[in-house]
Amino acid sequence: CGIVGYIGHREAYPIILKGLQRLEYRGYDSAGIALYDGNTIKLSKTKGKVADLKNRLENEIKTDGKLGIGHTRWATHGVPNDVNSHPHYSNSGNLVIIHNGIIENYEAIKTELINRGYSFKSDTDTEVLINLIEEVKKKEGVKLGKAVQIALNEVVGAYAIAVFDKNKPNEIVVAKLGSPLAIGVGEDEFFIASDASPFIEFTKNAIYLEDEEMAVVRLGKKVRIRKIKDDSLVNPIMQELKFNLEQIEKGGYEHFMLKEIYEQPHAIRDTYRGRLLANEGIIRMSGVENHKEKFLNANRIIIVACGTSWHAGLVAEYIFEDIARIPVEVEYASEFRYRNPVITEKDVVIAISQSGETADTLAAIKLAKANGAFVFGVCNVVGSSIARETHAGAYTHAGPEIGVASTKAFTTQITVLTLIALKLAKEKGTISNSDFHYHLEQLELIPDKVKQALKSDEHIKKVAETYKDATNCLYLGRGYNFPVALEGALKLKEISYIHAEGYPAAEMKHGPIALIDEQMPVFVIATKKGHYEKVVSNIQEIKSRKGKIIAIVTEGDVDVKKLADHIIEVPETLESLSPLLTTIPLQLLSYHIAVMLGKNVDQPRNLAKSVTVE
Ligand code: G6P
Repeated sequence: CGIVGYIGHREAYPIILKGLQRLEYRGYDSAGIALYDGNTIKLSKTKGKVADLKNRLENEIKTDGKLGIGHTRWATHGVPNDVNSHPHYSNSGNLVIIHNGIIENYEAIKTELINRGYSFKSDTDTEVLINLIEEVKKKEGVKLGKAVQIALNEVVGAYAIAVFDKNKPNEIVVAKLGSPLAIGVGEDEFFIASDASPFIEFTKNAIYLEDEEMAVVRLGKKVRIRKIKDDSLVNPIMQELKFNLEQIEKGGYEHFMLKEIYEQPHAIRDTYRGRLLANEGIIRMSGVENHKEKFLNANRIIIVACGTSWHAGLVAEYIFEDIARIPVEVEYASEFRYRNPVITEKDVVIAISQSGETADTLAAIKLAKANGAFVFGVCNVVGSSIARETHAGAYTHAGPEIGVASTKAFTTQITVLTLIALKLAKEKGTISNSDFHYHLEQLELIPDKVKQALKSDEHIKKVAETYKDATNCLYLGRGYNFPVALEGALKLKEISYIHAEGYPAAEMKHGPIALIDEQMPVFVIATKKGHYEKVVSNIQEIKSRKGKIIAIVTEGDVDVKKLADHIIEVPETLESLSPLLTTIPLQLLSYHIAVMLGKNVDQPRNLAKSVTVE
């Protein structure tokens, strides 16, 4: 989601509207604005794009006022519709809020507030938060800033929020944990936004809040920043903005793809946030819980998907069979729908799709439903066609993915599918308690390990430089990392237009080995856990045919290092979680090669982000 706010001497409406348009890259399923006109709050919101809001707004309300907040939404709780759009009022109608993030414990707080007489119009976690703030303010008799602070200490989750009170229209209270928030500081005016793009033409001075910080932005006063937890004052650090608009949108990265690659630690954490409760040893996923019997009694799971999502499905096949002992078949949705497949009521079909709009996947779902199967969706886009068409599902919560080549969608899909497999394994008793706990702990370490893997970027760039002129590449992996080899090859094809093929390492001898000569770069995933010795023998086979070997290895590896032309290290983890790490260097490699070849990385030729035709 994107948030914008303004308080000062100018008309707030045009600033907020333009700001929202600039933030649409962060999400675009609904939008809304609340303005204070010196007398009352005027609020208008709608499903759809910021342009839809503009049309509606200018018919609906008078848009004058020098204080306002606006929001462009990427739904997390509740489908995109008018009521669920932000801003949200408190029950009294005095307070109004915009929020980017997820409040995990909102249901418990909501129940408590309902008991105290509060009512709710939307399904959102945000409406719960604003009423909690209102309740605290009333009960404790404190100012808005204090009430926000107390309320935030009760919530678990992630947020960037802006709140104002119509009875105190000289201030906006903002706070941040997990989601970004910048304060633009002008002459007698302040801007609030998810990034600096909405205010870059008005001021070059910005303060970026750190996690667990909040600020009261008051006219005529200096910005005061406090720690939410212990109320201590923080010295605001004013930064001079040097980026242009386009650079800001991309978070300072050169391309969306690179930004999205770097977002993975955060995205994976957002995926398991509120679901993986390692201390309590539970995985909470209502979509699975509500249909537990379907999963537990399933004869088999059929996974349908296309492209990168299909590769995530292949990884899931390994983990479901390995840990939960459920037979799995993974199918290209386009084949499944046309080959008269055997589907029964005892089948569970899992459809994986980033966009939730892929026509072939949607058709496969309809076919499965018509044959009585239970269909579960794993989508990134909330409220998308596939999310609506399936019986139940789990969102990946990766945030908008804009680069056509899928990156963070892939790793977050694997994360969701891993959670499901672990949950079912626990239910079925196919995993020991200690193993289950160990898996949860290891999964929680993944975001930091991804960060670690990203640190090899400079080294990977050098490897990319060496191989950028190759015309063919081979990618090899075994076990859990065979699908990673396929995905590595797909990434290279998609954005650099170099022909690449992924193969199971052992299958190489049945064909592709004929291609190997001194011109052929072979990318091999050779991490410590899982068939290591076997892969080492495969590497030897390549070496003796003079192929160039670039190996993805576990930190501290010695054996492969002796054989390979280049090695790229990733941290150690469980074999089942290794795809989340081994994928990272392959994404970066493709990215750098494509950039070096001068290709359009974010919009490669002939490809579309969402393929809604068959
Ligand atoms: C298109 C995209 C791919 C994506 C595939 C499936 O081909 O270019 O990146 O993997 O569709 O998309 P979905 O949205 O269903 O995951």
